[in-house]
Amino acid sequence: MIRYLIDEVIAKKDLGMLGKFIILVVGLNVALIAFRFMSQRLNIKIGLTVTNDKRKQLYKKVLRLNYKEISGTDAGDLLYRINQDAHSIMAIISRIAYSILNSVLSVVIMLGFIFYLNVKIGIFIACMIPFYVWISFHYNREIGLKTQKLLKQWSKITEFLRETLSALLPIKKISCEEVVDGQHVVLCNELTETSRDLRNTGVNASSFSSVFSFLGNVFALGVGGVLVIRGNFTMGSFVAIFSYVNQFFAPLQSLVESIVELSENVASCVRVKEIMEKEEEDYSKEGCQIRGESIELRGVDFSYGKHRVLEGANLALGKGKINVIAGKSGAGKSTVFNMVLRFLEAGRGSVYVDGKKIGEYNPKSIRQQIGVVEQEPFLFNNTIRFNISLGKNYKEEEIENVCRKVNLWGTIEKKEKKLEYVVGAGGDFLSVGEKQRLAIARALVRGAKVLLLDEPTSNLDEESRKILYKTLTELKEELLVVLITHNFNELAEGDVNFYTLEEGRINIKN
Ligand SMILES: Nc1ncnc2c1ncn2[C@@H]1O[C@H](COP(=O)(O)OP(=O)(O)OP(=O)(O)O)[C@@H](O)[C@H]1O
Ligand SMILES: [Mg+2]
Repeated sequence: MIRYLIDEVIAKKDLGMLGKFIILVVGLNVALIAFRFMSQRLNIKIGLTVTNDKRKQLYKKVLRLNYKEISGTDAGDLLYRINQDAHSIMAIISRIAYSILNSVLSVVIMLGFIFYLNVKIGIFIACMIPFYVWISFHYNREIGLKTQKLLKQWSKITEFLRETLSALLPIKKISCEEVVDGQHVVLCNELTETSRDLRNTGVNASSFSSVFSFLGNVFALGVGGVLVIRGNFTMGSFVAIFSYVNQFFAPLQSLVESIVELSENVASCVRVKEIMEKEEEDYSKEGCQIRGESIELRGVDFSYGKHRVLEGANLALGKGKINVIAGKSGAGKSTVFNMVLRFLEAGRGSVYVDGKKIGEYNPKSIRQQIGVVEQEPFLFNNTIRFNISLGKNYKEEEIENVCRKVNLWGTIEKKEKKLEYVVGAGGDFLSVGEKQRLAIARALVRGAKVLLLDEPTSNLDEESRKILYKTLTELKEELLVVLITHNFNELAEGDVNFYTLEEGRINIKN
């Protein structure tokens, strides 16, 4: 087209043809712009939809992971993978795939034009392609490895920020601001160093490839020029071939850059895949209705790897009295709770609730009927109402009733917004005792039949402990109450069944 325009239209001063030519160019360009516009919009839509679906899928998957995968897991790593790594899928679909396809198409078309005009220049230019392929493969691996390193560092710094920013007050209390600041500086510097290394490798790949495009252009200029001087090439052919060579190398260059970018994003996708392949809990079993009459361990063995915690443990707990379990630190008391909650499975023997082997039922259905109160119960940074109802629609009097039952209503009435009072991050605006009573109210309102309390009294003063014990004593007929504690003096002897856990076995103490 360029050759025809110069040699036939401009050289022969054919104004009519020039007009037609301009109309043709305008038409072609309008069609091209419209096509690009539509395809980019479509790519964005597909890319965002896939990323959005993947992000939701990842979060759901994480919520279903089993205890082994969750215990001790780096939340920052998960956070980064769900937010950032999932985003890479969008980049691959909507940008990189599109630009790779575009570049390949342009390269093939331009090469065809060059061959049509001059086979020798065509062969020389085509010989450059293997170098680009080599550069792409060579840097692809290097960039993939460096990206993996960078992403691990991103996960690490995200976890560090999550941990320290959610514990600003405790950090100040133990006065270790300088220590965490020092750690942050190290992490930031490591991140910047790896980022720089990665970017520099990308620049190396791009610069290396541009040497070949420069050589190709010089060759086309030289050979084309000589052909024109010798009269074997028209001026139109010369301008055309020079323009096609340029338009051949530009997409080839951007192809190398896209492949570099692709390797970075593929590394992210691998991390997303790793989460999707983790082991999850089995919710396929049928649900189980609990009455809360009894909890039993029959000949239970349990080990964390080689560390044996329970050995032939037997236990029978019933309603009517508060079941207190004591034992040395590390004896396995919380492990017993985790077995009842179906986070851990016994190696030998089984756990029974109301005479049913709970291992045969859906773990979620069991947990829904068991209330758990820990030293610092987990609260959302939301209203008291939300933290009790967990988003379900209970009647006003149902919530008030449970709050009265657990001796929390007095506290709520003192708050300006009552049930709409926002408790702050981690429930910071409530005292520990109030948080624990709120956790019991949460269990009661959903109709829990069992209440497991793991060392709730450790952070309580005498007054709060008394209120908690008063609440438990009132609830002991309604629910099966199990309390891990060393601090039980305020409980009336007649209200308590007492057990100790020693050497992996449970003893009844009278
Ligand atoms: N996820 C885990 N992986 C490996 N070992 C663990 C794990 N959880 C607990 N352990 C170990 O198992 C033992 C029992 O732990 P457990 O938390 O049940 O003790 P505990 O009786 O509740 O102690 P404490 O009174 O201090 O809370 C401890 O020695 C602990 O180090
Ligand atoms: Mg414990």
